[in-house]
Amino acid sequence: MTESQSQTRPFAVITGGNQGIGYELAAQFAANGHDILISAHGDGLPEAAERLGQHGTTITTAKADLTTYDGVEALYAAICETDRPVDALVLNAGLGLGGHFVGGTALDDELRLIALNVTSTVHLAKRVAPDMVARRAGRILVVSSVSATTPTPFEAVYGGTKAFGLSFAEALRNELAEHGVSVTALLPAQTETNFFHRGDMDDTAIGAGDKNDPTEVARQGYDALMAGQDKVVGGDWSAKFKGNVTNKILTEEQKADAHHDLARPGSAEAND
Ligand SMILES: NC(=O)c1ccc[n+]([C@@H]2O[C@H](COP(=O)([O-])OP(=O)(O)OC[C@H]3O[C@@H](n4cnc5c(N)ncnc54)[C@H](OP(=O)(O)O)[C@@H]3O)[C@@H](O)[C@H]2O)c1
Repeated sequence: MTESQSQTRPFAVITGGNQGIGYELAAQFAANGHDILISAHGDGLPEAAERLGQHGTTITTAKADLTTYDGVEALYAAICETDRPVDALVLNAGLGLGGHFVGGTALDDELRLIALNVTSTVHLAKRVAPDMVARRAGRILVVSSVSATTPTPFEAVYGGTKAFGLSFAEALRNELAEHGVSVTALLPAQTETNFFHRGDMDDTAIGAGDKNDPTEVARQGYDALMAGQDKVVGGDWSAKFKGNVTNKILTEEQKADAHHDLARPGSAEAND
């Protein structure tokens, strides 16, 4: 592959692109002819890059802990090092955390979650968006959650971070539209990834229950981004019905009660 071939392809950056929804989003971009840069914190970047490389585009990796200021700056430096304008930025890296707010979850874990889900999202957008505005071109996908449309007891902090993501995306969308940059929010419903296990939610009804296919969720996010839509609920028809209809009709208290039953520690057994 020559340098000029690579330069003619669009370039996408995906945080958390080594596994889960982020990996599947990266696969969508690669399959649709994008060179990509994927970032992650732990292991698995080389293997993910090798699999993504089957589409014949250029895959770059950057290992960075996005819970830290320096980690986000290091990722931005890696983006700049490619010397490529960013056509699409996917702010996907995120953690979940289940448990009782009092007597369950640890404050350190909650602050790390906020640092990743909220602070790194703002920080990286702040670095990358100005260049998009200067070029009057670019697309930003914020991976929020259907949890942004409901209070989430036993994931109280997580749901708040995802509501932030949706609000941030909708506001940026409005601000950047006149500059030729579009912003889209992806709101996945429960999806088959490591998310619930990592978030200590294996013993919850939602963690142990049926989940959506991450490939399908990512395809829906990619299509919405490319179509310039404001947001899309990711998942099957029932996920979309919940995000687009039920959660707009029920009161916050009713939605909180429903989520309580799904996310309460031990609720997996109660539903057996
Ligand atoms: N799965 C669901 O049911 C669901 C539903 C709604 C929304 N979402 C959202 O979808 C996004 C992706 O989650 P997922 O389901 O695909 O979960 P996942 O498979 O656990 O992936 C999480 C990603 O975030 C990265 N990450 C975690 N800690 C990081 C750190 N300190 N620095 C940099 N990157 C870090 C991970 O990289 P490492 O592997 O290297 O740590 C991984 O790539 C999240 O924003 C999540 O809130 C998921």
